Amino acid sequence: MAAILGRAGTTATGGFRRHHQETSRGGRRRDAVVVAAVTGAAPQEGSLERPAWSGETPVSRLVAALIAFKPLYSLMKLASREVIIRTAEKSNIPWREMTRKVLESDVYEVFERIRDPNIIYPDYYLSPFHAYDEGNLSWLAAAEAEAATLSIAKRAIPEATSIEEANQIVRGNWMNAIEEHHLKYSGENCQINDILDIGCSVGVSTRYLAERFPSAKAVGLDLSPYFLAVAAQKEEQLCRQNPIRWVNANGEATGLPPNSFDVVSLAYVCHECPAGAIIGLAKEAFRLLRPGGTIALTDNSPKSKVLQELSPVLFTLMKSTEPFQDEYYMLDLEEALSQAGFVNVCSVLTDPRHRTVTATVPY
Ligand SMILES: C[S@@+](CC[C@H](N)C(=O)[O-])C[C@H]1O[C@@H](n2cnc3c(N)ncnc32)[C@H](O)[C@@H]1O
Repeated sequence: MAAILGRAGTTATGGFRRHHQETSRGGRRRDAVVVAAVTGAAPQEGSLERPAWSGETPVSRLVAALIAFKPLYSLMKLASREVIIRTAEKSNIPWREMTRKVLESDVYEVFERIRDPNIIYPDYYLSPFHAYDEGNLSWLAAAEAEAATLSIAKRAIPEATSIEEANQIVRGNWMNAIEEHHLKYSGENCQINDILDIGCSVGVSTRYLAERFPSAKAVGLDLSPYFLAVAAQKEEQLCRQNPIRWVNANGEATGLPPNSFDVVSLAYVCHECPAGAIIGLAKEAFRLLRPGGTIALTDNSPKSKVLQELSPVLFTLMKSTEPFQDEYYMLDLEEALSQAGFVNVCSVLTDPRHRTVTATVPY
């Protein structure tokens, strides 16, 4: 049965109120929504198009030179990992405990069932990433991923009183943006029957989508069979009307049938990919969506005041473990979606750090 947009027209959850405004960019009009926190701390745009530490700026070149110096890079990797774990544990995320539970579970059996042994990994995916030498293709990365994912929200909403509240706000605003866009632009295809979550990692975003649209069939897709095994193992313990299906594939060439989804979501995927892959993901989403279908990409906003004002130490550490950030910030994502054939491209600052970009496949 179809998920009908019951809460259509609702505004952002989590105590945020929204204001709509029109902006113009590159001759193309698009909607922007400014989200204001009840605390009065509205998510703000900085004065730049993108952070000065990204792209071809002197600061960026200096950071790149530091990272290229191998002995220093190894130290930065360790420091970065230490900062991430300490920050998470300070927010009451039991990082080490969550990791241990996964590593001591039967996740290894699920892995054998879920992995596609014929998968061909793109080159970028085989490099060290997030301070893991095997990138996302390791058990430690998979076991730590849920704790790392939860802390994204706390960094975005530091004033939230709990990690749950921060996640409700960040994830709630992202899903409101999807729902509102779909209702406004999908035309006769306003029911959400099929959802694809590309780059689902250990399934946190997929579970949010499945809970928001319980009568839709949700598919979580990721390149890492380790991450998917963690996702699938958790799902097996839940009782859901429509259990989530997990697919181990490249989001640029999924092998799934064309015109088979109403919503394709990519949450926090793009800043981890080179520009060519982001464009490939957008083209594949266009192929997979039905006419009237919605793509939604949520990720760091180049215009975020908070990100533009990050301390030099923090952005150097961040860039040392996420090598494609420059390409991400330099790419005009809205334009890339238009080039892929999407229309009604909208960009919304859904919290102080992140934007959600949505667009429609025309009839
Ligand atoms: C930060 S995680 C996503 C987190 C998750 N969507 C959430 O919001 O909870 C980024 C994910 O993108 C995946 N990824 C990167 N490139 C991909 C590709 N070409 N196809 C499928 N997944 C990809 C990575 O394996 C990783 O799991």
